[in-house]
Amino acid sequence: MNFIGMNVIGTDQFDRASIDKVLDTAKSFEDVAQQKEKTDLLRGKILASLFYEPSTRTRLSFETAMFRLGGDVLSVTEAMTSSLSKGETLADTAKVIDQYADVIVVRHSDEGSAEEMAVNCECPVINAGDGANQHPTQSLIDMYTMREECGQIDGLTVAMAGDLKYGRTVHSLVHLLKHYKIKFIFVAPASLQIPDKYLKDIEYEQTDNLEEAMAKSDVLYMTRIQRERFLDKNEYKKYKGVYVLTKRMVLNVNEKIKILHPLPRVDEIAKDVDELKNACYFRQVQNGVTVRMALLALVLGKA
Ligand code: NCD
Repeated sequence: MNFIGMNVIGTDQFDRASIDKVLDTAKSFEDVAQQKEKTDLLRGKILASLFYEPSTRTRLSFETAMFRLGGDVLSVTEAMTSSLSKGETLADTAKVIDQYADVIVVRHSDEGSAEEMAVNCECPVINAGDGANQHPTQSLIDMYTMREECGQIDGLTVAMAGDLKYGRTVHSLVHLLKHYKIKFIFVAPASLQIPDKYLKDIEYEQTDNLEEAMAKSDVLYMTRIQRERFLDKNEYKKYKGVYVLTKRMVLNVNEKIKILHPLPRVDEIAKDVDELKNACYFRQVQNGVTVRMALLALVLGKA
């Protein structure tokens, strides 16, 4: 797979070799990400980050990645209130931003929005989340974290818990992990279970019992209930707090389980879990910069 100039829109673009290529490239950037080394690899290149939906870590980690590689950043954080919301189509916005930037990162509430931008500009477009659909770069970070924390991805049993219906990171992660030997356990109340379309060609169980799933798993991928995707807010209230992982639960049920979360967390992981060395979610944030460096360098032909 040739990464140069490539759009990163969805997980179906990736096979096992290209996932490994991203993860290996990320590994080679670790010292730069941790500031043990400096580089000017992307000097003269401009990243435009367009966020039509709220974001802290995704936007900042892309921007940090670009800065640490010596590149520059144009950032539109108030896309809903800026001229971008004056009724301009995404297609036109893409054609305009294309004149300024060498690579575009976009987050938008509409499924298919990143694809819509990509077909309308020359420079590579990276999807930073399109509605409840996909969030491929987060999943590459999650996989990098699993590989770093567990030694390898093949052979893992991965429990995914929380809002599996609307959680786009879950959707993308299942699609990418499909290329490895994984046993999935999907933990959610029946109405927030993962949509059937993600279950093709995988080995899985479904349950609503978090502790049972934890006892059998190597990795627990926790997610928040996606409040903004519920049309009926009472429905959201019904599920808020449905799973709360505590330190005691981890120690009683499976003290070795690696705990991942794409963040932000709401109440699904109690603060005391942070003290455990197998709580990986803040290291996962650091990995976000490393993996996004790799993606930027690859699509810009510098890795
Ligand atoms: C996720 C997202 O935006 O989908 N966050 C992230 O990118 N770090 C998960 C979430 O919002 O729950």
